[in-house]
Formats: sequence, C-alpha cells, structure tokens
Amino acid sequence: MKKQLLPLLLAALTLSATAQNRVTINASDGKTVISRHIYGHFAEHLGRCIYDGFYVGEANTKIPNKNGVRLDVIEALKKMKIPNLRWPGGCFADTYHWKDGIGPKAKRPKIVNTWWGGVTEDNSFGTHDFLNMCELLGTEPYLAGNVGSGTVQDLSDWVQYVNFPSNSPMSTLRQQNGRKTPWNVRYWGVGNEAWGCGGNMTADYYANIYRQYATFMGSQVGKETIFRIASGASSDDFNWTETLMKNIPGKMVEGVALHHYSTFGWGPNEKGSATEFTETDYAHTMNEALKMDTFVQKHSEIMDKYDPQKKIALVVDEWGAWYEVEPKTNPGFLYQQNTMRDAILTGATLNIFHKHAERVRMANLAQAVNVLQAVILTKGDKMLLTPTYHVLEMYNVHQDATMLPIDLKTEDYTSGKYKLPAISASASRDQAGKVHISLVNIDAGKPQTVTVNLKGVSASSLTGRILTSAKVQDHNTFEQPNKVKPVSFNGATRNGDVLTVTLPPVSVVVLEMK
Ligand code: AHR
Repeated sequence: MKKQLLPLLLAALTLSATAQNRVTINASDGKTVISRHIYGHFAEHLGRCIYDGFYVGEANTKIPNKNGVRLDVIEALKKMKIPNLRWPGGCFADTYHWKDGIGPKAKRPKIVNTWWGGVTEDNSFGTHDFLNMCELLGTEPYLAGNVGSGTVQDLSDWVQYVNFPSNSPMSTLRQQNGRKTPWNVRYWGVGNEAWGCGGNMTADYYANIYRQYATFMGSQVGKETIFRIASGASSDDFNWTETLMKNIPGKMVEGVALHHYSTFGWGPNEKGSATEFTETDYAHTMNEALKMDTFVQKHSEIMDKYDPQKKIALVVDEWGAWYEVEPKTNPGFLYQQNTMRDAILTGATLNIFHKHAERVRMANLAQAVNVLQAVILTKGDKMLLTPTYHVLEMYNVHQDATMLPIDLKTEDYTSGKYKLPAISASASRDQAGKVHISLVNIDAGKPQTVTVNLKGVSASSLTGRILTSAKVQDHNTFEQPNKVKPVSFNGATRNGDVLTVTLPPVSVVVLEMK
C-alpha cells in the first residue's frame, strides 16, 4: 500500500466507527400516553376544503354522499383514524357567525369570505352539517369560536346550542332545527391567531378578553369538563405564551395553542413550488419543520413555570408545510400538491410530538382536504391519498399507546448550508402489548443503517411497512394515484436484543414487534 493512502484509510475507518445511527429503546421507562388527539385535522371554510372537498351538496347525484358529505372522503379518513377535526377556521373562524349556518338552507344569509378568495359563502354547511359529519367520521369536533368579530354572548349561545340537553332557549332552537339530543362538544377554541387575523391584539389584551369569554362558556359537557383552548403563539413568539400563562388562571384554560408552518418566506411568490424543488430546498423545508422540537421544548418550559403539573395541554392546532399554490389555481384557495418531502416532514414532526407527549396532547395538521398539506385531494368524482395521508395511517398505531423513551444517536445529513439529523425516531407500546418503532431517514442522498437496541422489549415477531419513492419530489396524481404508497418492509433483521434496519433515502418505516 502506498504510504500516502494510509492516513486516508485510517480517516475513513475512524469515520465509519464513529458515524453510525443508534436508537436505544428504554421500554421499561414508558409512562406517558401519546394522546390520539395529536393526530387531529383541520377543516376551514377555505378554498375547496369544505365546499367541493368534504361537502358536495345534498343534490349531487354523481358523487356518492350522505347529506351532501362525500362518502369516499369519510371512508378514507376513518381508515386513517381521525381523532378530532377543527372547524370552521382558522382566520375564517373570527368572521363566522354560527347563527347564519342553522335552519333551512334556502333562508341562510350569504356572506363574503374575506380571508380566502373573496368568494360568496352561502352558509349551506353549518353547525348541524359539521357535527353530524363528525358523527359519521367517528371523530371529536373541535369548534373554533369567533372572538375577533363576535361577542361573548354569541359564543356562550353556541356552547348552549350544541351542548345543553333541553329546556333552554338555545337547546329549544336546536330541537326546532331537527336535532333532539346535544352533540356534547368538548373542544373549543377561543379565537384563532388573536395576534394576527383574529384581531391583531396584544398578548395582554387577548389574555384579558380570553378570561371574559371563558367565564361565560360554562364548564361542563355532559359529565366531562369543557376543554377551552386559548389562541396561541406563532412559532417562536415565546412572549405570547408567557403572557397567557401569567395572566390566565389555570382553572380557566385547558389548552394553549401553538402554530408553526414550514415555508420559505411569507412574501409574494416566496413560498416555493410544492413539486419542483431541489434537494437543498427539501433540506430547507426539513430545517424549518425540525424547529418544532425547539419551539415545543421552549413553550413547554414556559408552561412548566406556571403549570408544573402539566394540567394545561400545548395544542399545536396548525402545523405543516405551506408552498405556493398549484399553477392556474386561485391564490386565495391554498391548493398545493404533496410529495415525499411532506411525508418525511410528517413522520419527523409526529416523532417530535411523541417525544413531548407529556405536554403536547393535541395537534391539527393544516388542512384535511384540498388545502395546504392535505391528506386528501379531490377532483370531480376522483379522490387521491397523498404521501402525508399514508404516514398518518401508518403511524396511527401510536394513538393512545404508551410512549417508550429513546436515546438517539444519528449521523448528519448535509445539503447546501443545512446540516440536519439523518434519522428521526420514536417508539410506543400499545394496549395489546405490541411495540411500534417509527424510523424516518431524512437523508435524500443515501441509505442509512440504524442499530436499534431493544432494552426491555420482549417480543418474538417482527414485521414492518415502508413509504418511500425513487425521488423526494415524487407524488400521487389523479392519473397515477398509487405512485407513492406503503408496502411491506423487509429491511430489518433481529439478532437477540438488537435490530439492524437499513432505510432507503427519504423513507418512513413503522416496525411492529409482538
Ligand atoms: O391554515 C391557513 C391559515 O393559516 C389559517 O386560517 C390561519 O389560522 C393561519 O394563518
């Protein structure tokens, strides 16, 4: 061997000895349940999410529906296991007057949807339509109240309309409109983005009026306690959380919200294409998405100061990727495609939520159908499931399972100026004793091998599923709806308490051991 090659060989050997991915699962330390509610979704009166997405109208004879709600969408969301659905916004919520959306449809007033495209909103999809749809979905509704342009009385009436059994002005009105029993809605948002589209308020001002709204909402839903969610911070606005926690008494709030979108910038044409992007663009999006870990950590530390027993949940009720709209679509409708990049973002974000399961007990991906990082896209009578859908469906095994803490040592993945962890991981044990391990290879350039130490996992069988595709830009279209879909995975081998798992570039794997 030539003398000058020796240092290079030694360097390579050192690198391969140190650069490795290792996940240690501490199965006997599991104590926190991963709330199924972190798998929640969001349906706003925005673009084609409600109208032409969920709801195609009772008169539609071409698309199979129940009371106007598409049955293919219902079936897909049930299979994915959707635990809760937030409605009617978003920014729209603070312009929405719920009484416009009850009673005979022909008599409902029309309004202009000022936030989203200036289109006419005919209020044909209202409270009954939404809550009945939630029953069809088997999901819990999460109603966002209007604080920005509504009144305390309006919100307190809405609570009474949907939750009071009988013999009250609002429950009588509900019964006159055809619904005898209450829906018992537990989750209530008190405004949305109060620092922005919800009224451009200061944190102090909002904290004060929050107290006023919360006082008149009542505290019981049947036998349950109502769950009031304060409009929360955007990304790293830690002062917002601090002000709310300091000024709102703990007994008046059950959840504090947080919103974080992964984007390239908020200016015109800054957000980048959903499908045409470089590997470094992908790394940028992932860099933005992985900030969720720090944001959740820091907001939680603030909450810990005022609520050390963690009674109040951190509710990440808007998260996901935000790109430019698809060419030739209405810019106000936020319709975007969804690629393997979004699948990787989803897997990594859910792993972050699992890690913080003690404080993060609810979250809502924005949004469910035809808007932003949608799980379902529709076109006429066609419907497709996005790569994001598939990750949520694969990960649903973690819902209400006990989080198993992990130690993670990962190689770096670099692209352009970005240096990211190559591997994201989490694990849980479900009520039947099955252990699930979720592994994401963020690296778009090469496969990664992960050694998983199974400390305290007693299981004899090992199976798995994988979502991956040749390119990170790959996505499903109406012409090719199954280009990206999960298949069974055989890249894991077990030797005693050690698994060796080889993950292709940009892949999401869920292993099951029982
Ligand atoms: O999800 C789209 C919009 O993003 C929501 O209406 C608003 O809350 C946020 O700014």
